[in-house]
Order: sequence, then structure tokens, then C-alpha cells
Amino acid sequence: MYRINPHYAKLTGSYLFSTVAQKQHAFQDAHPEVEIIRLSIGDVTQPLAPAVIAALHEGVDEMSRAETFKGYAPDLGYAFLRETIVEHDYKARGCHVEADEVFVSDGAKCDCGNIQELFVPESRIAVCDPVYPVYVDSNVMAGRTGVCDPKTGRYEGVIYMPCTRENGFKPEFPKETPDLIYLCFPNNPIGGVLTKEELQGWVDYALRVGAIILYDSAYEAFIGEEGIPHSIYECEGARGCAIEFRSFSKTAGFTGLRLGYTVIPKDLKELHDMWARRHGTKYNGAPYIVQKAGAAVYTPEGQRQIFETIGYYKRNAQVILDGVRAAGYYAVGGTNSPYVWYAVPEGMTSWGYFDYLLEKAGVVCTPGSGFGPSGEGYVRLTAFGDYQKTVEAVERIRRLGA
Ligand SMILES: Cc1ncc(COP(=O)(O)O)c(C=O)c1O
Repeated sequence: MYRINPHYAKLTGSYLFSTVAQKQHAFQDAHPEVEIIRLSIGDVTQPLAPAVIAALHEGVDEMSRAETFKGYAPDLGYAFLRETIVEHDYKARGCHVEADEVFVSDGAKCDCGNIQELFVPESRIAVCDPVYPVYVDSNVMAGRTGVCDPKTGRYEGVIYMPCTRENGFKPEFPKETPDLIYLCFPNNPIGGVLTKEELQGWVDYALRVGAIILYDSAYEAFIGEEGIPHSIYECEGARGCAIEFRSFSKTAGFTGLRLGYTVIPKDLKELHDMWARRHGTKYNGAPYIVQKAGAAVYTPEGQRQIFETIGYYKRNAQVILDGVRAAGYYAVGGTNSPYVWYAVPEGMTSWGYFDYLLEKAGVVCTPGSGFGPSGEGYVRLTAFGDYQKTVEAVERIRRLGA
């Protein structure tokens, strides 16, 4: 008789964005005359760079001829892509990462969700609160947590590091010692960053307590200020305690194409070899044409084109940040990040404000409480929308007032 994995039953509610979408559709059905503007899910809207499109076409043509046809990709990804990644994302920033430490995948979500398999079930995980839900939910599914306390919104056994207005929305070293520490900077959902010194502090801490940092830098391309690390390997000693996740989704608009990579330094030899083994067994690689398109992102024209699009989104972020502040809200993020995080009016909950904003302004936001209990009282807006619609949404928020 089969038995199902009981840990799935511990997961709370549906995935955040399914609930957001359900509410949006219900409102649209009831009010077909309202033009809803979605500044909720972090999905890109602008087309792929011409250099990427050209590479995709070329890749398709290669697949049409026996001499250039490609079947299964190498386990770790094509060398041409891994070597390009190392040159541009690491060597150019003075980081030591080698091509055989880069594992190409179809995106950071799977890798962030799957990495926990390499560790014993008893591992204590520490996460920021609020947090990108994948880190917690994947550990819940794996049985690494107890149940979620409905009063606190926290899973038993998880170490939460609150990121609140009081601590500048930055995690502090937890009182209990974790084995695995998930960090994501530029942060989703708050939009904040760590300075090099602050991140070095986390590397030193992890080395001291023998923890591994699982560092998600899916939004590094949005960093515009000096002194903000793009990679954890900019910090001394990180090769001995950190795994890094990267994504082409927000950097180059690949949310629909699917491409990412994970770096596991050989200083963490067992983990490196285990991930290689896992890749070989459970994964058959990102498509050749997509890896080829990924390499095109690093060409001079590719770089120019993607930074133009990132500039477009950054202008949206500035419009949102300035607009919600002008409306009287307390807001952070939006500078080195596509996300703006702002406090809802006194006495309202995140979901209460979500409903209010949808009903009164036809704007869809993401309730902060969906990212964790410390997100209560906040909402997140994304800069990945169309510029004119973003301006219109912010104008509607301003008219509504704080
Ligand atoms: C923090 C963070 N990591 C990873 C991802 C997923 O990236 P990918 O599209 O490469 O799976 C997202 C997507 O929203 C994200 O916000």
C-alpha cells in the first residue's frame, strides 16, 4: 500500500501568487470595466535582447543539420557557457571561480529548492523573514521542519531572522546556531542589499560556526551602487562556506526561456561532487539553444542590450519608490533592486491593503505577510511592468493617499 509524503500536508495554504491571481480574477469578473494593473508577480515583460534572439535562431538552424545537431548536453552544461560565465561574472570582479565549479541549470528556483537534498534531515535552516518562499517550502517538503504555528506563522524548527524597520531590514546573526543559512541579496521581497563588509561578516560567521551559506543573487544585475557585492565570492573565505545561485531570468529576461547556474567551489569538495552526481542522475541539462542564447548575453552587444532593459526596469522602480513616498508611505528598496517594499496604512493588514488597493485603485500588489510573518504590515510592488502602466498605477496610488 503506498503512503504519501506526510510533510506536504504541513505546507500552509496555496502558493502566494496563486491566491493573488485568484483574487485578481474574481475582482476582474465582478468589475470587467476596470483596467487592472499588475505590479505583483516578479515576472519580466520586455522582449529578449536582439543578440539573444539571433543566437536562438542560429541554434535552431544548427539543430536542423546533422553536422551541427546537438543531443544531450554535457552534465554540467556546455563549456562555452561555463567559461564565459567565469570570465564575466567572476574573473572580471576579481573572484576565483573555475569553470568546473559552475553547474548550468534551467533556473535558480529548482536549484534553490533542490540543494537541501545534499544535507542531513536534521540540518537546522536559518532564513530571513520575510523570505522568498521556495527556501522554506522545499525544506518543509523534505521533512526538515515541524508544523506551522497558525498564531506566529512560523514553522517549528526553522530559525527565522526578522528583517524589520528596526534593524534596517537586514538579518542579524541568530541566537541558535544554524547549519544552513539562506541569504538573498539584492533581496526579494524587500529590495535591500548588504555592503561588502556586511556580507563578509556573514562569511566569517558561517566559517566560525561551520555553516553553509546558500546565497541567491538572482537580482545582482540590478546593483547600481559601489561597494555592494555582486557575488559572495567577492568575500574572503567564501569558497569554504558558500554556494551561489544565479539566474538569467531577471538579468536577461529568460523567465520563459529558463536558464540559471549554481556555483559550488571545489573547496567544498564533497558538496561539489554530490551536486555533480545529482545533476548526472536527476537532470538532463538546459537546452543547447538556450545555453547558446545565454552565452550571447555576455557579448558586447548582448551586454549593452540587457543593461538597456535593466535600465528600463530601474526607471520603473524609481517611479514607484518616488511615487509611494510622495503619497506618504514609508518605502524602501527600489534602488539596487526591482522591488519596492512599503508600509500599509496603520491598522490595516497586508491582505486588507491588497484588497483595498485592488478595489479602490485596480492595482495588484503582493501582500508582505505572504513572504513571512515579519512581512505583515507591508506590501511589495515590482518594477517589471510596462513603464506607462507603472506610472498610471503609481498615480492611482497617489490619488488614494496613505
Ligand atoms: C530570490 C529568487 N530566486 C530565484 C528565483 C527564480 O529564478 P528562476 O527564474 O531562475 O528560476 C526568483 C524568481 O522570482 C527569486 O525571486
